[in-house]
Amino acid sequence: MRLVGCGSALPVASIANDALSARVDTSDEWIRSRTGIGARRVAGPGETVTTLATDAARASLDHAGWEPGDVDLILLATSSPDDLFGTAPRVQAALGARKAVAFDLTAACSGFLFALITAAQYIRGGTFQRVLVIGADQLSRWVDWDDRRTCVLFGDGAGAVAVQADSGGPDDLLGFRMRSDGSRNACLTLAQTEEHRPLIGELSSQTGGFAPIHMNGQEVYKFAVREVPAVLAEVLEGCGITAADLDWLLLHQANQRILDAVAERFSVPAERVLSNLAAYGNTSAATIPLMLDEAVRDGRIQPGQRIASSGFGAGLSWGGALLRWSGPAH
Ligand code: UT7
Repeated sequence: MRLVGCGSALPVASIANDALSARVDTSDEWIRSRTGIGARRVAGPGETVTTLATDAARASLDHAGWEPGDVDLILLATSSPDDLFGTAPRVQAALGARKAVAFDLTAACSGFLFALITAAQYIRGGTFQRVLVIGADQLSRWVDWDDRRTCVLFGDGAGAVAVQADSGGPDDLLGFRMRSDGSRNACLTLAQTEEHRPLIGELSSQTGGFAPIHMNGQEVYKFAVREVPAVLAEVLEGCGITAADLDWLLLHQANQRILDAVAERFSVPAERVLSNLAAYGNTSAATIPLMLDEAVRDGRIQPGQRIASSGFGAGLSWGGALLRWSGPAH
């Protein structure tokens, strides 16, 4: 498989740290020093997971030089769908990608990486030739805006990559590992509420609805700084390369301190660690393709370069991948 295009989309409205301190007891100093975050985008009227995902997907199609009708599969990684029955078909319709099969994949902040690896299996198995992999989330819907422990962290956005079968060329997914540990699920949840309503006689049925995001920040932090280096070390060893051979470290953008800790473990210099936390915060499934698109478009990531990537978060779930960028230079 080859990575041949990328794109991204963001809501218009940006909320800076100082503005948040008008609502909750926080400060720019606390948020920046603990997370590296300076602002986040929040979807307004008319902006949804569907519109953001569609705009990102369209940009990746243009970048790859594809027509919507070329696409065989659309995989949408999201944990905040517009429709629990699936948001990917709405994206398919909006793009006019008539022959594409489209479905959602949910693995929270690991979602994009898991979807990219899933796309690779369809391509390598010969089922599909051209796949759009999208990571899009609108967690502003599910944040308790009065909970300062979580509301300062998250933002909305979308990123996409175009992935193509190419039996002759090098494979751009050089190696990967995926992990889940549901026994630690309670650390980070966006869970169904437990309310029941009377139905018939003694019978009741559960009322649909979700509680806001709940996170044990310290536990998730410890999990990330332990598991991300471990899974990346396995990926690199499996590929027979060392961190010195890497061009870029592209981690899920959750916290600058996590990025720094992982970089230090592998002795990757700061200028090789991609970060846009300051502008966008944690956009969940969107962080990796959003950051990739930014770095490709501004010329930092060049064709042929090797990128170590890791997604991690709720589930708990995590994974690592060694990628090569084959697409256009800009
Ligand atoms: O994308 C999914 C993966 N998610 C992550 O990787 C997140 C991992 N966790 C983290 O990034 C960090 O744990 C946080 C940024 C969420 C929190 O940082 P921390 O250094 O672990 O802070 P803490 O939770 O230990 O809280 C320290 C203090 C507490 O006050 P007391 O109890 O010491 O008086 C909090 O109440 O900071 C307080 N606090 C805040 N103060 C100002 C918590 N949130 C805020 C805030 N503003 N927004």
